[in-house]
Amino acid sequence: MPTTLVTGATGYIGSHVVLALLEAGHEVVAVDDLSNSSPESLRRVSQLTGREAAFHEVSVLDRVGLTKVFASHEIDTVVHLAGLKAVGDSVADPLSYYEVNLGGSMNLVRVMAEYGVFRLVFSSSATVYGEGISPFAETDGLGAVNPYGRTKEIQEYLFGDVAASGSQWRIALLRYFNPVGAHVSGRIGEDPVGKPNNLVPFVMQTAAGRHEQVTIHGDDYATIDGTGVRDYIHVVDLAAGHLAALGALDTHVGCRAWNLGSGVGSSVKEVMAAAERAVGQPIPHQVGPRRPGDVAEAVADVSRANDELAWTTQRTLDDMVTDHWRWQQSNPQGYTD
Ligand code: UFG
Repeated sequence: MPTTLVTGATGYIGSHVVLALLEAGHEVVAVDDLSNSSPESLRRVSQLTGREAAFHEVSVLDRVGLTKVFASHEIDTVVHLAGLKAVGDSVADPLSYYEVNLGGSMNLVRVMAEYGVFRLVFSSSATVYGEGISPFAETDGLGAVNPYGRTKEIQEYLFGDVAASGSQWRIALLRYFNPVGAHVSGRIGEDPVGKPNNLVPFVMQTAAGRHEQVTIHGDDYATIDGTGVRDYIHVVDLAAGHLAALGALDTHVGCRAWNLGSGVGSSVKEVMAAAERAVGQPIPHQVGPRRPGDVAEAVADVSRANDELAWTTQRTLDDMVTDHWRWQQSNPQGYTD
């Protein structure tokens, strides 16, 4: 079985990816600097799978540390998820975003090449499409509109250029839409530090009584009910998309992008209604002004991923909020409980 290195392994998406890899029989080398996540997630992944990932507390900025990890395992493929991801923080502190996201990727590629590892799956984002016209296809032009998004876009160019430099490289760029939900066990899930900016974690914390109410950021968009429309994807389906991409690297040389979304748009009001069904009671909310930087709609054209990765999402919006609520209820303070 292949040995797969996962950076950002203890995070929300990382822990679900590690679980999927272990379940598929991969040997997993897990790397994280724990700056925004807890090693408890991987302890729970071991309980769930009965298998263990080899964990190294190393930052992708630490080239010497990364080199030691590559020297101590026979790595076949890298899944690179480590990075900073908060749009607002990236506006306030762009330099950290460029430093960590670009610096981390550059270090990683250097060390991979040094150890003859040329297969990479990279965590990109739908944010690279910026203010383009939804639904977004991989052939659409890019144009991120904030520093975080620009670091993702520049990393895509970086990987594209690296792949063009030698035919041994096989790189998958996975453009995530809006990942939500949690593993069905309720044992691993998203554990945001501080007040969440994203809709579903905020809605769930409000249902749990941690916030007074949800503010719907604008109801005057040209959408089905005036509220913002997004393509929500269950994190377990997203993790399965990484496995599908790893498989596709057997036949795809060079660098190729795939959208990972459901292809279905849901409005904020539809998410609220689904969350209320999952929770079984009303969740206080009010309509406020638009949030600066938001677009009306961002939905994936998923035909390329469906065709080339033989992958499609299995879980509905109701599954996403039901699973997210189970995680929220059994871990009201995240991994510190
Ligand atoms: N929303 C609210 N109230 C809230 C939070 C969000 O109404 O309290 C709305 C937003 O206006 C938007 C929708 O809910 O219409 C989803 O918002 P999120 O913040 O959950 O997600 P975004 O689509 O804005 O952002 C996500 C990721 C970013 C990424 C972006 C584009 O969080 O990292 O998708 O890919 F850049």
